[in-house]
Amino acid sequence: MNVLIIGSGGREHALAWKINQSPKVQSVFVAPGNAGTASDAENVDLDASDARSVIWFCERKRIGLVVVGPEAPLVDGLVDALESAGIKAFGPNQAAAQLEGSKTFCKQVLIAANIPTASYQSFTDGENAARHIMERFPDEKDYSPVVVKADGLAAGKGVSVCQTRQEALDAIDRIANQKIFGEAGASLIIEECLHGQEASVLAITDGQTIVTLPAAQDHKPAFDGDTGPNTGGMGAYCPAPIVTEDDMDWIEEHVLVPTVHQMNKQGTPFKGVLYAGLMMTSQGPKVLEYNVRFGDPECQPLLMRLKTDIVDIMLATIDGTLDQLDALQWDPRPTVCVVMASEGYPESYEKGHAIDGISNADVLEDVKVFHAGTTLSDRGATVNAGGRVLGITAAGESIAEAKSRAYEAVSKISWQGGWYRTDISDKALN
Ligand code: AMP
Ligand code: GLY
Repeated sequence: MNVLIIGSGGREHALAWKINQSPKVQSVFVAPGNAGTASDAENVDLDASDARSVIWFCERKRIGLVVVGPEAPLVDGLVDALESAGIKAFGPNQAAAQLEGSKTFCKQVLIAANIPTASYQSFTDGENAARHIMERFPDEKDYSPVVVKADGLAAGKGVSVCQTRQEALDAIDRIANQKIFGEAGASLIIEECLHGQEASVLAITDGQTIVTLPAAQDHKPAFDGDTGPNTGGMGAYCPAPIVTEDDMDWIEEHVLVPTVHQMNKQGTPFKGVLYAGLMMTSQGPKVLEYNVRFGDPECQPLLMRLKTDIVDIMLATIDGTLDQLDALQWDPRPTVCVVMASEGYPESYEKGHAIDGISNADVLEDVKVFHAGTTLSDRGATVNAGGRVLGITAAGESIAEAKSRAYEAVSKISWQGGWYRTDISDKALN
């Protein structure tokens, strides 16, 4: 079978690497891919927002499975278009992808299914939102933090955790009046601020059966000690001991199962990866958000541990036969992924600097360098082309060993301005 993966990040490189290991698979194509997928698969220049050209490519190359990596094409309905053309596609359809595409939709599902989450109000008008803040906190000294979120997709930038009343008013102004997220900010929500450690619990579901993957933990702030601006994620590890086995059982029973039921009940059945972003609060896990795809970078350490053929999992999800699949097999060893980023990220950065040492890192035992924002220059050199550039992922007998292997590999790689956090997975060690 030939497989097409949509996307160009570290997640998609990890997917290409894993899918390529399936004995069922002949060729793996990635659209548009990066320098890493160019060597582990074949890149194709397709625009995911042009469903007709994707379908045309699938028919020409006899693609038996399309895997949609990022949220935007899912929310735009690429899976619906592929299904209508009779092409198997892994991921939720447009209606179900609203779980990530609209924070209000997500909150309504959580509340309807009685799933623990932060309390919230939804607004379509900036003036009403600002009035709500002023009425709730007439005096700055009465203020307690709230979180302001643009309703729609905002490339991970639509959320502001506001430490002062003025910050909350500014966040509302940027979304509702300055419209910095365009249509994605046509409505916004104001949420109670939760405290605790975050964890990512991903499950694969065909709408009936739920297969939960081991918990992972991302590192969203740019700098060590969780300081600095929010990023797409500077590293991740798996499993995350903050989520105990009891927590996992509880999360399945009280979060994942009721979500899948609720989606069925309201006529938007969910198929694909259901990714619960959780806050492990003193009152137990609460859902911060749902994503409708693999997390990036969580996908890299997760897939490095997965031993089951991922193509079997994906086809069973599409065919509604997950109940017939054997229990997933995992490498018991933990994995750690350290992201290397371009100077200036998450703000603007220069591109085109040649990256040295990738092959020296890649040959290390139990290490895989997943590419994200990389491309091949005209001279064939691998150069940085995005904010998050590489996800160096390693396995070890313990999290500490996986961490030290990952950082040993990181130390072999350099380019002008390349940087990384030095404390990925430390929360699990302390
Ligand atoms: P989201 O896109 O909803 O996951 O939000 C992005 C990040 O903002 C999360 O990973 C958290 O770090 C933070 N965040 C979101 N909602 C809350 C909340 N209610 N309380 C505290 N932090 C939050
Ligand atoms: N790692 C966070 C995300 O994929 O949204």
